[in-house]
Amino acid sequence: MKKLRIGIAGLGTVGAEVFHLLKDRIEFSVVAISAKNKSKDRGIDLSGVTWVDNPVDLALFPDIDVIVELIGGEADPAYSLVKTALYNKKNVVTANKALLAHHGVELARITEEKKCGLFYEAAVAGGIPIIKILREGFVANQISAVYGILNGTCNYILTTMERTGQDFSSALAEAQKSGYAEVDPALDVDGGDTAHKLALLTALAFGCVPDYSFIPVYGIRGITPEKICKANESGYKIKLVGRARKSQDGKIMQMVSPCLVAKSCPLAHLDSVLNGIMIEGDLIGQSFISGRGAGAKPTASAVLADLMDISRGITILPFAKPVGNLSIGRKANVSAWNEEMCPDIKPLE
Ligand code: HSE
Repeated sequence: MKKLRIGIAGLGTVGAEVFHLLKDRIEFSVVAISAKNKSKDRGIDLSGVTWVDNPVDLALFPDIDVIVELIGGEADPAYSLVKTALYNKKNVVTANKALLAHHGVELARITEEKKCGLFYEAAVAGGIPIIKILREGFVANQISAVYGILNGTCNYILTTMERTGQDFSSALAEAQKSGYAEVDPALDVDGGDTAHKLALLTALAFGCVPDYSFIPVYGIRGITPEKICKANESGYKIKLVGRARKSQDGKIMQMVSPCLVAKSCPLAHLDSVLNGIMIEGDLIGQSFISGRGAGAKPTASAVLADLMDISRGITILPFAKPVGNLSIGRKANVSAWNEEMCPDIKPLE
């Protein structure tokens, strides 16, 4: 059997877990690695693997078939690495939602031109195969809405505040200690990370270009234990919800904000690092899926799933359709949104 030869960029919690899991898989061989600090003890044996200081150089290795990009961030070096790898006809597997939300269209165009693949199951809700679900499983549906809890750190913070009465800052410090938060936790708590993920889900659900720039985004810094307690007494939980809906006149509405979620809604019962997503489609009705959205193992599970698809020869366009066939999501104004929201979820006043 021909092994898939892999270059990994980024050896944080997810990268180290991916490396560890790949060691035991006969269909893969990790050829080279690049990370910030060569001497850091990550509890993994890197002997026999070529170390590369500049991650972009991995994209030029003739004996690498697939780049696994786990650096993160919309800018360089992640951007140049992925772009160069695709130009060199290498498949790319990434967990980088910021990169795809900002540059997804450009990168998808290169994959079409070069006939290679850009796989990103790990970019949204780690342990939930939501990319595959929307791109393949529910592809026969006209999707009318997709919404859910997409950030494990915020859910962890809100759950901790509810359970312990701690304020926002000390709950954030706990989440950071647990290794769930982004390098810059502002991306989590101010809603940007949820918006990046939502832009990708919206593109897949509605066949439009991912457009992060038109999502109104509100984070959770203003949530207090008192607000959580008051919501609880009225039959609601406070959750950071990313939501997208196609209005009856075909406009696509997207928003990220803390919401009151009725306890009768399954999203209300997702605690700690759990993520959950509701999808409404004309054939499926309403479908709900939940699982661990952050952390080394659930995210590594998604990275390996993409690698296994590549080793099986599965190819699919990043947004299911050629970029030229994706619609431009027309903006709907925010006030129109509230009238069309599902009855279980109310904006927090
Ligand atoms: N910081 C992200 C989260 C990591 O907490 O959900 C997974 O995308």
